[in-house]
Amino acid sequence: MDTRTLLKIINFYARFTPNYTKIGYFARKLGWPKMPPLDFSGQNWLITGASSGLGKGMMRAATEAGATVVAVSSSQANLDAAVAELPESLQASVTTMPGDMSLVSGTQALLEKLLASGQKFDVLQNNAGILFNELALTSEGRETTYVVNVLSHYVLTKGLVEGGAFNNDAVVVNMTSGGMYNAPLGTAGLNTTDPAKFNGKASYAYAKRAQVALTDYWNDSYGDRGISFYVTHPGWTRTPGVKKALPVFSIIQKPILRTPRQGCDTALWLCATRPPVEKDVVWFDRKTRVTHMYDYTKKPQCTIEELVEYFENEIGQPAAAATA
Ligand SMILES: NC(=O)c1ccc[n+]([C@@H]2O[C@H](COP(=O)([O-])OP(=O)(O)OC[C@H]3O[C@@H](n4cnc5c(N)ncnc54)[C@H](OP(=O)(O)O)[C@@H]3O)[C@@H](O)[C@H]2O)c1
Repeated sequence: MDTRTLLKIINFYARFTPNYTKIGYFARKLGWPKMPPLDFSGQNWLITGASSGLGKGMMRAATEAGATVVAVSSSQANLDAAVAELPESLQASVTTMPGDMSLVSGTQALLEKLLASGQKFDVLQNNAGILFNELALTSEGRETTYVVNVLSHYVLTKGLVEGGAFNNDAVVVNMTSGGMYNAPLGTAGLNTTDPAKFNGKASYAYAKRAQVALTDYWNDSYGDRGISFYVTHPGWTRTPGVKKALPVFSIIQKPILRTPRQGCDTALWLCATRPPVEKDVVWFDRKTRVTHMYDYTKKPQCTIEELVEYFENEIGQPAAAATA
């Protein structure tokens, strides 16, 4: 490793370790006003990626606070295992609904099931997400990270809003990542299906950046329907996803990574407090934060309207055409 790379790594850990780990969580917690215990009684939540990590943490916290939860992941077995970990008294508060969000058709099928169920939601946690280091194409010919982290969220959220599946004063929380600080808004970095060009962390960053932009777009488009959209990131949290995607990082940081409950604290807090919606911010540790840390991401490669048009074309396209 050359000195420049080593210095970059040292700089990265020195800057973010105190902030994104448990250290930052506990330090900031000291300044948080005292709150009554979370109370989500009477609310119906939809949590994607509820079988593991942060989503599983949210499912537990939401049911403990009195909500009913529709729990989504790609695997019925994983969902069953996650529900079995809940105290017996809470298990009946959860309905599981498997759906493969790496496929547009899988997400559309999930959406149809949700709409057909006739239920309305007070909270949607757009939490399902992955980081793949190796290129993985779906059976629809798309790059998996892109679809799971953002295209599926677009399909699901738009479908639920336009299908009238939200109660008044509903909240939608998009779970992005600090990784989004590494990419500008752009469509060229999404759906990288060429193995020679694929970089898992870059694909992830572009998808997570797109989630941030979509949050503003949805507030502008759907705010008058009484729905508030927020975007948050969890810092660095010890989850199966992190262990798999970033094994070395996971070992180095193990003792100080946040617990899933700490990582999803802001996502829960936003639902409990519903702060005024603000543009061009990301919520982290109960506060708004800037959406850009580096100059090179500040100039977008596309407008939000072009991003949405890109997604619309994707959804309109027959599956096979997506590979062209
Ligand atoms: N942990 C962190 O430090 C961290 C940092 C920044 C951002 N995040 C974000 O937080 C979110 C949760 O991550 P995590 O760390 O909790 O990861 P995780 O433990 O791997 O959980 C990911 C969840 O997404 C679900 N999922 C994956 N592929 C899916 C698919 N095709 N269809 C439906 N669901 C699918 C998984 O369920 P199945 O495998 O059962 O399908 C699982 O429930 C992600 O959006 C991630 O990008 C996490």
